[in-house]
Amino acid sequence: MYAQMVKSDGPSDAELSPEERAFQARIDAGEKIEPKEWMPEGYRKTLIRQIGQHAHSEIVGQLPEGNWITRAPTLERKAILLAKVQDEAGHGLYLYSAAETLGVSRDELFEKLHSGKMKYSSIFNYPTLSWADMGAIGWLVDGAAIMNQVPLQRTSYGPYARAMVRICKEESFHQRQGYSIMMKMARGTEAQREMAQDALNRFWYPSLMMFGPSDKDSVHSAQSMAWKIKMNTNDELRQKFVDETVPQAEYLGLTVPDPDLSWNEDRGHYDFTQPDWDEFFEVLRGNGPCNEERLGARVKAWDDGAWFRDGLNAYADKAAARRLAAKTAAE
Ligand SMILES: [Fe+2]
Ligand SMILES: [Fe+2]
Repeated sequence: MYAQMVKSDGPSDAELSPEERAFQARIDAGEKIEPKEWMPEGYRKTLIRQIGQHAHSEIVGQLPEGNWITRAPTLERKAILLAKVQDEAGHGLYLYSAAETLGVSRDELFEKLHSGKMKYSSIFNYPTLSWADMGAIGWLVDGAAIMNQVPLQRTSYGPYARAMVRICKEESFHQRQGYSIMMKMARGTEAQREMAQDALNRFWYPSLMMFGPSDKDSVHSAQSMAWKIKMNTNDELRQKFVDETVPQAEYLGLTVPDPDLSWNEDRGHYDFTQPDWDEFFEVLRGNGPCNEERLGARVKAWDDGAWFRDGLNAYADKAAARRLAAKTAAE
């Protein structure tokens, strides 16, 4: 079905230049494209947008959780959360490096994030109100991220695919630590159980939104799938997420906040209510509960760090000049 979709929506073979045709043949044969090799401008641009947005999401994603590091209930939970948030910083750095191989500088990417020209995942524009939210985020948000990212280990662009391998391993630890918090809360006191249920209620639909709008409203799908930048459609991944997550909620004894959720024997999948797409586009436009706060925190960190970056650059320039002087003296 998806192959058909790509055929009908993507460029037809006759419209491709000889280079583009050869490029597509390499991708179809499962070859990886590496940084210095020829690639269509659209492929490069789409990857910069996708990898850049992914990098920004990792970095901004530290903020709602960083909020809870000082308030974790035990020393062990604090150490685990610290490690998790630090992992996310690492994911951001791999991904910025992968984007740089496509000829965009890190400063340029930051400038686009700070000016609102590039996005990060809207899930991080929702507030984290209780400790149970750390559970719900690990379980649902990192869970949805895994669902998105595991197929990307096979993506056609080498540096992106390789970054995904390590990232996915770490994401799976994140998902488990989240589920372990949920388990503790769901089996704790009545008040703890209520906090866990409340966190699930608030994060369920925003998690479903993480897969992006429905395929029929998704602008970049067909070409990205032909290029193997995108491996599955949004609806396909969302369904997979629901199918895997509902039994996990049942195991916790929690209720998924969807009265119409039911197992469909014929389809072999759960039927479920779509998230509110008007809300999705509102948050995307910058009108979510925490957009200003999140972007404000990133811009402030960037501005506050200016003196340090200047110092590093001055040191690097001096060291380079010294090396050059030593080399000239030796000659
Ligand atoms: Fe991550
Ligand atoms: Fe994560």
